[in-house]
Amino acid sequence: MSEAKRLAGEKAIEFVEDGGIVGVGTGSTVAFFIDALARIRHRIAGAVSSSEQSTQRLRSHGIEVLELNDTGPLALYVDGADECDPRKCLIKGGGAALTREKIIAEASAKFVCIIDPSKRVEVLGRFPLPVEVIPMARSLVARELVRLTGGQPVWREGVVTDNGNWVLDVHGLAIREPEAMETAINQVPGVVSVGLFAHRPADVVIVGGEPPIVL
Ligand code: A5P
Repeated sequence: MSEAKRLAGEKAIEFVEDGGIVGVGTGSTVAFFIDALARIRHRIAGAVSSSEQSTQRLRSHGIEVLELNDTGPLALYVDGADECDPRKCLIKGGGAALTREKIIAEASAKFVCIIDPSKRVEVLGRFPLPVEVIPMARSLVARELVRLTGGQPVWREGVVTDNGNWVLDVHGLAIREPEAMETAINQVPGVVSVGLFAHRPADVVIVGGEPPIVL
């Protein structure tokens, strides 16, 4: 799969505009995008990063990392996903970076999602749905997630997000109404964000392959 990830990451470079600031996601597919971005770093003004991991990789390539509060809206955000349905709704957060990813996606005019073919599904939910929670609310949120979704939340023990919070992964879902589920989970006190990207899905999906498919 890593060859497919590389091909998807490299294809996304075609969406980068000269002089622009690029929103950059997190994960192994995005790592290939960052490496490709390094080759054209003289053509961009910098990047906004969704995680400490991506920040380190960007800086190691000499790409300036800027604060979203300073840049304002972005033209382009490039990120991976754990699952993608036919409407380009996504599950994200396998790397625990979902909250910052969601913020940058919302701030961006175009969200280009880069995936390998294994991420395409008809119905979201085979991949456990990540939910970032304030630590003191973990068990409250878990009970509410059982009630709202019928799934089984599992604490991702030992993982602390870049925001100092914890992650619950909800197993056993078949998400037929992603927007409604995203709204319902967002209402629970203690939820920081849910890794369902339905209200703000991807605009373009690149599926890595020879050649890559652009959806
Ligand atoms: C990070 O929190 C996730 O949203 C990633 O975008 C997702 O896990 C994709 O990761 P890979 O590109 O490593 O498969």
